[in-house]
Amino acid sequence: MKFFVDTAEIDQIKELNDLGMVDGVTTNPSLIAKSGRDILEVTKEICDMVDGPVSAEVVALDAETMLAEGRKLAKIADNIAVKVPLTWAGLQTCKTLSDEGTMVNVTLCFSANQALLAAKAGATFISPFIGRLDDINTDGLELIDDIRTIYDNYGFETQILAASIRSANHMSECAKIGADVATAPPNVIKAMANHVLTDKGLAGFMADVEKAGIKIL
Ligand code: E4P
Repeated sequence: MKFFVDTAEIDQIKELNDLGMVDGVTTNPSLIAKSGRDILEVTKEICDMVDGPVSAEVVALDAETMLAEGRKLAKIADNIAVKVPLTWAGLQTCKTLSDEGTMVNVTLCFSANQALLAAKAGATFISPFIGRLDDINTDGLELIDDIRTIYDNYGFETQILAASIRSANHMSECAKIGADVATAPPNVIKAMANHVLTDKGLAGFMADVEKAGIKIL
């Protein structure tokens, strides 16, 4: 499973990228607003740093303006994936941009039917939002599983990009289901390293190091 990092914070992307943990980046208008940076500038900086796809989201609601925005974003770098919402206008934009050879990430997906439409429109990525479904008492992971089944049934090449990930547990569950990509905030990716028994075991080893005066350097 590829790891995308869900942030527009350059320092945090760099830290994980230097460790080889970043296969791509996703941003959205809220993350850009939080960064306080100009969308075109910060996106260019991310594209220069990361080899994989960098999602940058359109902000228009109508297909014509969305397409113009998408074409402008696509010019930033070769690794841009234009992010469009799962609306009818977004699907129209997806089809045109895909036909032009631009990667498209269709976002705000909350149902298997929406994922089916995005695949038909030639999306490179479909972004089902797990956490926001969990927030309304619906099983977000079940949606990932349903989309995996549907895409495998028909050989759709659209990659399932599990989004709105809120916990380390979401990451391993997505990997078990077979999501192609999971995008998560940096703190969630770092939390994957944590285990209470690792902490406990290390504390025990350190006590014995102290007791026996073990030195290596
Ligand atoms: C991904 O592309 C989305 O930007 C993101 O995962 C949304 O996450 P949230 O529901 O935590 O805002």
